[in-house]
Amino acid sequence: MILPRTVRIYEVGPRDGLQNEKIVLPAEVKIDFINRLSETGLTHIEATSFVSPKWVPQMGDAAVVMAGIARAPGVSYPALVPNEKGMEGALAAGVTEIAVFAAASESFSQKNINCSIAESLERFKPVIAVAQKNRIKVRGYVSCVVGCPYEGVIAPGRVADVAATLADMGCYEISLGDTTGVGTPNKILDMLNDVLKLVPAEQLALHCHDTYGQALVNIYAGLLAGIAVIDSSVAGLGGCPYAEGASGNVATEDVLYMLEGLGIRTGVDIACVIDAAWFISGHLNRKPISKVANAMKGEHHEIICRAC
Ligand code: HMG
Ligand code: MG
Repeated sequence: MILPRTVRIYEVGPRDGLQNEKIVLPAEVKIDFINRLSETGLTHIEATSFVSPKWVPQMGDAAVVMAGIARAPGVSYPALVPNEKGMEGALAAGVTEIAVFAAASESFSQKNINCSIAESLERFKPVIAVAQKNRIKVRGYVSCVVGCPYEGVIAPGRVADVAATLADMGCYEISLGDTTGVGTPNKILDMLNDVLKLVPAEQLALHCHDTYGQALVNIYAGLLAGIAVIDSSVAGLGGCPYAEGASGNVATEDVLYMLEGLGIRTGVDIACVIDAAWFISGHLNRKPISKVANAMKGEHHEIICRAC
């Protein structure tokens, strides 16, 4: 098994991170955060969600955030869209990439988006049709790819079926989410083994949460299986409001440190990312939870942000 030479980081901090924080940050802080991330070399920054503000009040300012950010050339700012109403909001906000989100667990699907997996896929059809008509790129998520907080172990075949359906429906990329971070490398490889029978590695991303401290080793397993797109969240922000125990996503700076050590190129400046991690953590009244942000901001390590 050979490691990829380059990896694309798909940053989810402003969305997956901030959707689960008790403090609802003002839109201008989110905008400043996203603008700082735009200076790091990241090419994909998931900015917000056009979901029901009754379900996720933290994302209730989606239109304001999209209107306020300075969109950098070459950077995509995707937004989550669960239904046609969300698509209307995303269109009005000038979003150029959306993400639809399904699950491999029926119970999680009900808790998260109030419908079955099959109903969710039906709901995405008109959303994707509008997106395609307007030349908006569509990414697809599958949550709970190795385990579910309500159902326990999820069979890899169920993940493969949902991932393949999303690919057939027109998603250019399918992100496989270990939503509660229960995976270990063997479970991730078993799951990928089934998914790869139906969807090529070039169309897949891995989205690991670090609840059990397994995210980096799971990502390493994914890299060995040919996955070259990794979702991560600056400062390890994140979780999921409908998956109790889902702690933060793997921290972007921790992933970057590992990839740099492996000689894998990302084009992302780790020092700039750590600056953004301290910026947003300060607004949340805490330090970043990531090991690398703390190690590299220690008194003996001066952060030198090459882009700033
Ligand atoms: P519902 O209650 O079944 O929806 O929720 P509804 O169609 O019956 O509408 C209820 C109310 O919501 C109505 O308002 C609608 O207008 C409004 P009312 O008449 O009561 O005033 N509404 C909306 N408002 C704004 N934007 C919309 C929208 N849709 C309806 N798009 C719904 C169904 C899907 C809307 C809801 O369940 C929802 O918003 N869920 C989102 C949950 C969420 O964001 N979860 C976190 C993201 S998933 C995740 O984090 C996992 C991931 O990171 C991968 C991983 O980690 O594995 C992606
Ligand atoms: Mg997530």
